[in-house]
Amino acid sequence: MSAPLTQTAEWQALKAHAEVMAGVHMRDLFAEAPGRFSALSLRDGQLFLDYSKNRITSETLKLLMALAAARGVDTVRRQMFAGAKINSTENRAVLHVALRNRSVGAAPPPPVMVDGVDVMPDIHHTLKRLREFSERVRNGTWTGSTGKKIKHIVNIGIGGSHLGPMFVADALKDYQRDDLSVAFISNPDRTQLDDVLKTCDPAATLFTISSKTFTTAETMANAAIAREWIADSLGEQAIARHFAAVSTNHHGTTEFGIPAESVFPMWDWVGGRYSVCSAIGLPVILACGFDAFDQLLAGAHAMDRHFESAPFEYNMPVILALLGVWYANFFDAPAMAILPYDHRLKLLHAHIQQLDMESNGKGVTLSGTPVEVSDGPVIFGGGGSDSQHSFFQLLHQGPRLVPCDFIAALKPHHDADESRDLLLANCFAQTEALMKGRAASELSHMSESLKPHRVFPGNKPTNTILLDSLNPFALGQLIALYEHKVFVQGVIWGVNSFDQWGVELGKELAKSLQPALAGEAVLGPRDSSTAGLVAAYLEAKRQSV
Ligand code: F6P
Repeated sequence: MSAPLTQTAEWQALKAHAEVMAGVHMRDLFAEAPGRFSALSLRDGQLFLDYSKNRITSETLKLLMALAAARGVDTVRRQMFAGAKINSTENRAVLHVALRNRSVGAAPPPPVMVDGVDVMPDIHHTLKRLREFSERVRNGTWTGSTGKKIKHIVNIGIGGSHLGPMFVADALKDYQRDDLSVAFISNPDRTQLDDVLKTCDPAATLFTISSKTFTTAETMANAAIAREWIADSLGEQAIARHFAAVSTNHHGTTEFGIPAESVFPMWDWVGGRYSVCSAIGLPVILACGFDAFDQLLAGAHAMDRHFESAPFEYNMPVILALLGVWYANFFDAPAMAILPYDHRLKLLHAHIQQLDMESNGKGVTLSGTPVEVSDGPVIFGGGGSDSQHSFFQLLHQGPRLVPCDFIAALKPHHDADESRDLLLANCFAQTEALMKGRAASELSHMSESLKPHRVFPGNKPTNTILLDSLNPFALGQLIALYEHKVFVQGVIWGVNSFDQWGVELGKELAKSLQPALAGEAVLGPRDSSTAGLVAAYLEAKRQSV
């Protein structure tokens, strides 16, 4: 058995090095090395990463890379790409990379084996079906039951069956058509669905029910409302023309009334939060066209190749992962912020939040022993410009260290878009301010009592990720970059990044509470808080009758 993480020589060396680095300011590191930016930045395809504004030296990087090597990142990475069942608590392979496995030159895509079967033919068959179905909807040969062209796509799903496709569809809004709207529904508070249905004509609406299991309570509740809405206005026989589904549960989709021709498969080796490149991308394909989705897959594949083959020192996901470990474990950073400076990337943080926190928010290691150190940080964020005017205060002057990723596209969505100058000036200036800070000595004109309030400590780490432009290829690279970053961190912490047992208890308890809230059963023994809350709800219900 390998040594506990914190007992390894590599960890101990990093601990000693962190004590030295605690007294080093990035301002001085930049002053000492004019070539710091070129040394600590790299490009892959359409992504450029500047990681020079971090509290690191070449020694830090060397020690972090040694930790990655000692923890077996290379081995587990190879196992993942080869289809090994690295999701051991669910006995599953982890193959979101197979979803975008492409041909090199004229050669067919290399096989990817799970239980002795090549999964690639099934993936390619599904992609072909997705192309054909989406083209029929988009060119009007797939119509609603009355013969009307589809004008509204409404996706019903939650978690990975919602956040990924919603983020991508929004990011690629410039690829959408004006005559085909797309909406995403996840909340069982029916207000969300009602608000959308008010804007839709049932005869021209296609629902995509996205659920790997087809049992998720919130999704099934919303799907039932949508089904009733169609049946009430167009008749029961219309269901087949107005619903498509993405699921592993073919029994469930058939029972719902969705014909096999509009049901697209998922596989147990794709986790929900890693599923945007699977048929879960259906609403994106319908809204933006298959070619755009195909480019997204090509971009993700390019990042897969980079991750698989680049040496650790030049490997973007590995570098980002190690920087995250450096701050989480050696500087006690409890959180990290995702800050896109692009309106079209405004949902990025929500997608990464699920990806990271559901993957690496674990209490035990793969062997079932408690984790020795903090693992996945709290991920939060939002559009950089808005966030500057809300939570950036804490980033600049709060005592907690919160490393940040700044993300922007170099080229504008529209020609001669001067608004980008202001946007990017702020993006770059914030990373500069977080790094440099402002010392009291620079405030000679200020009263002594005000000075402490006007000092910025600086030395706050940031990465800047620049996309050449916000196109599907670059977006695919960006998504895969974060997927692999999370993977590497999971391997270092020794946790299973691909299960999510922690979400189950709440689901079970909700199931047992629901009959009491509906007045169909008496509440069994509960703690006084839960019982009191239920009583308050039932009383409010009684009063509103
Ligand atoms: O409850 C968490 C979760 O299982 C996520 O991991 C998943 O993305 C989401 O629920 C939705 O699950 P499904 O696609 O099966 O409806």
